[in-house]
Amino acid sequence: MRILSGIQPTGILHIGNYLGMMRPAIALQAEGEAFYFIADYHALTTIDNPETLRANSRRVALDFLACGLDPSQGALFRQSDVREVTELTWILSTVTPKALLERAHSYKDKVARGLPASAGLFTYPVLMAADILIYDSDVVPVGKDQKQHLEMTRDIAQKFNETFGQILKLPEPRIQAATETVPGVDGQKMSKSYRNTIDIFGDEKEMRKRVMSIVTDSKPVEAAKNPATSTIFQLYSLFASKDETGATREAFQRGGTGYGDFKKQLFEKLWEYFGPMRKRREEILANPDYIDTVLARGAAQANEEAGKVMKRVRTAVGL
Ligand code: TRP
Repeated sequence: MRILSGIQPTGILHIGNYLGMMRPAIALQAEGEAFYFIADYHALTTIDNPETLRANSRRVALDFLACGLDPSQGALFRQSDVREVTELTWILSTVTPKALLERAHSYKDKVARGLPASAGLFTYPVLMAADILIYDSDVVPVGKDQKQHLEMTRDIAQKFNETFGQILKLPEPRIQAATETVPGVDGQKMSKSYRNTIDIFGDEKEMRKRVMSIVTDSKPVEAAKNPATSTIFQLYSLFASKDETGATREAFQRGGTGYGDFKKQLFEKLWEYFGPMRKRREEILANPDYIDTVLARGAAQANEEAGKVMKRVRTAVGL
């Protein structure tokens, strides 16, 4: 089974990325051959500084490896190391109805937030379809926000197959429910664009500061508190054991503990949880060739698979 997913190198990874994409992707590695890539072509729709793009791409690779991705169980590579993905994008764009792209929520959202409506932003889902279809992917783990893109990938593949024969494999989405429930420090969905993130590899002072800035109601120390509506509790329960979560739920309901203390508990939990990953990250940083070796090996594997599918595609369309 080939498992494929991509992550955009748009900035520093936060715990929403970790729970929504990285942790499930790392866990899924045990079930098949994982192809994970850094979507740098996609990032060009929002980043126009070459140093930033290069540094972010490397940093995502580093952080992914630090979080436990095992490159020997699959391939970790840069999207742009497989040039044929852009060729497939072009071919797929000739069977993609413009009306399909016009329905994309992510395009509409991005334009509504003020991003210029470039042709690249508009055809973003076609590049994503090419990413997936070029490796004969079976399963694609993504956050809920990518569900529509996955449906579009299947629509595009189907349209291609109706026109040229059974060439492309239709992938199965695996939508991670956790992303729905990762709140940021302001209680909204955690997202870089809302500036409400807690970064995974921030230093101690910074992480503490972010946790202490979580917005709460103004209940006094002695009052009973509702865990279900508390951002602190929700985040805590995503990282703590069942027993720890149960004990904290009771402490909320009992009253007698202030939000400040609960925030300290949450900070300690996060700091402890990411401790081994920080250590691994330091080890990788001490040996920078390691990242290059992993990415080069991943690129070779990915190119080999992509080459097979492109051969079928070219023959089928008459190139
Ligand atoms: N669009 C995805 C995101 O922003 C990243 C991505 C690009 C991707 N290509 C992909 C994810 C292919 C899964 C499969 O999160």
